[in-house]
Amino acid sequence: MKLNIFDTVEEVLAGLATYFIKTANEAIAAHGHFSVALSGGSSPKKLYSLLASETYKNQLDWTKIYFFFGDERYVPHANPASNYQMAKKVLFDPLAINPDHVFAVNTLLSPQEAAEQYMHTIRTFFKGNDPRFDLVLLGLGDNSHTASLFPYTSVLHEVDATVKPVFLKDQQVYRITFTASLINKAHHIAFLVYGESKALAVHNVLEEDTDTQNYPAQLIHPFNGIPPEWFVDKPAVKNLQ
Ligand code: 6PG
Repeated sequence: MKLNIFDTVEEVLAGLATYFIKTANEAIAAHGHFSVALSGGSSPKKLYSLLASETYKNQLDWTKIYFFFGDERYVPHANPASNYQMAKKVLFDPLAINPDHVFAVNTLLSPQEAAEQYMHTIRTFFKGNDPRFDLVLLGLGDNSHTASLFPYTSVLHEVDATVKPVFLKDQQVYRITFTASLINKAHHIAFLVYGESKALAVHNVLEEDTDTQNYPAQLIHPFNGIPPEWFVDKPAVKNLQ
């Protein structure tokens, strides 16, 4: 893993925005397009806004980018909790992204059907080849989950499927998530983690002995050997030895 530590959140976001642009341009140069799985929650919202800003938006040919979601809350797309809705508001709409280039989870289906259909969508996009995203963006929950790979959920042990529904008992909600094995196939993986509230999770994931039930983000080990890039601020790493 490569730690990119910055003093302020603004610098973290600028660092990751620059990395996003670089990775995208390399993928477009190499094979004509860039496939990215976006992370959700609150942390990446500022990143997406920054990418859509005057500072960055002209550094990429957005017509060559295909957007997926590493996980999604099982709510209607119009629901404020929807990761799709967040990205639409701050990234897709401001950049007038072609809706055909945005692959949202169909949360009108049952959780199982939504996962199966998303798996099919991904398989079709990759033309039946091994689904290897150019970039998977990830966040980190303060309980060490990433995507919707939550502690003590059965999805942590999934090896065959690429997308699964997961029921969060404490929140009584479903999520649809990439499995660790799908994430680990990616060419590049980047974590965006900032704020003191994440410091214990960062320590647990990076420094505690392997305990993927408690620290699911420890499941993230890219198969192609390129270490994940972590973009963090100093408060988030204050517990690192
Ligand atoms: C989601 C995310 C999730 C997120 C972490 C951190 O759908 O919520 O994909 O994995 O990255 O929960 O969330 P915050 O950035 O809101 O702290």
